[in-house]
Amino acid sequence: MTDFPKKGTSLKKIQTQLQRLERSWESCEKFPFGSVITKPNPAALLAYKHLLESNYNNIGFVANPQKPSIHGTNLLRFEAKVITMMQNLYRGKNCTGYITSGGTEGNLMGLLLARNKFKNAKTVVIYSDLTHYSIDKVCNILGFKKRKIIKVDKKGQMKISHLEKFFKEDKKYDNYLVIATVGYTTTGTADNVSKIAKIIKKQKKNGKKSYLHIDAATAGFVLPFSNPNLKWDFCLKEVDSLTVDGHKAGMLPYPAGLFLARKKNYSQLKKIGYIGQIDATFLGARPGVAAAAFYATLIYYGFEGFKKSVKRCLKMKCLFLEKMKKETSTDIIDCKQMNAIAISFPKLGKSGLSKKTEEKYSLIKNHPPFQQKNQNPFYTIYFMPHLNQKNLNKFIKELTKECRSKRKCKQ
Ligand SMILES: Cc1ncc(COP(=O)(O)O)c(C=O)c1O
Repeated sequence: MTDFPKKGTSLKKIQTQLQRLERSWESCEKFPFGSVITKPNPAALLAYKHLLESNYNNIGFVANPQKPSIHGTNLLRFEAKVITMMQNLYRGKNCTGYITSGGTEGNLMGLLLARNKFKNAKTVVIYSDLTHYSIDKVCNILGFKKRKIIKVDKKGQMKISHLEKFFKEDKKYDNYLVIATVGYTTTGTADNVSKIAKIIKKQKKNGKKSYLHIDAATAGFVLPFSNPNLKWDFCLKEVDSLTVDGHKAGMLPYPAGLFLARKKNYSQLKKIGYIGQIDATFLGARPGVAAAAFYATLIYYGFEGFKKSVKRCLKMKCLFLEKMKKETSTDIIDCKQMNAIAISFPKLGKSGLSKKTEEKYSLIKNHPPFQQKNQNPFYTIYFMPHLNQKNLNKFIKELTKECRSKRKCKQ
């Protein structure tokens, strides 16, 4: 056990410890294939370099009519610009929101606004069996007891026919809170949001209330650039709110989530006397430097820069799939416009890759819910902006070597 330190430590000693950490990080696989992290971009780092020391506090809400200068030490004007730009990217009008700590907080805000809208009437929360665990957690926090879990199909999408059947047969509920995912964590696949929106529209005609929240934590910085014509965001009237993580394909350092909702959904929020504003953010004090870094990143890349980065990631994914196809047999779950896949290696059997390879590349075994019991595990692979041909080739070489050696052992 480490006791609470009695005396302080010199900066020199602290620096030595930190440098050791830095060196050990430099000697390992810096950004592994199995997790959705990447190198922070230079514009964001610049923002941190210049503004971290000022310790700006972005307490408050950009959409408040009051002057956004609480204590005169915030960067809410940067946050306001980010909100407007991102609203524009997600084809919204009359939306607002704030920079969050990440996808979990964005999901919490989305479901909180829905709860406020529905008040106490009978509500069911509907999502798929591939949905990120934060949704279940948020339902527990907010006291949503009734859930309807819809199965996903083999393409990793919520089964539309099952959703339709549920709506047709339901007689118990007054309100439907639907969560669609754009970029499932373990498969990279996305729900068909425009079909879900169509079904919800039909329900409204039957006098039922609904709220559609989009969890785009993983792909919110991918889809607008890989397939700008796809309808999944505020261009659909039925979409009420959306969450995205900038600290994934947005190349920002943590924390950099973003929550956006239609203004009409911000109801029943209390005014806080001592800050003179309505309480529309989950956290109170928030890092102003994160807003400046978000803003700097958006103007550094612009639409064309992000598009180039996403295109490059998708090219890496295609190269990987082509080469793996030539080298060994694989089962793949792949959604064309996404930068993630799930892959399984039939030659490795149920045990999958060795622990050593799993650890080296942070690859995590998972079993998608549509798999039969006792089938081979899948691994999620993310093709992130820091990747280059050299580390991709090395990764492919190690995977194929392992598939071949396991096959020899079995013979
Ligand atoms: C689909 C999805 N939703 C929500 C989250 C939670 O995001 P965060 O870890 O930023 O809270 C994740 C995280 O990976 C995710 O993949």
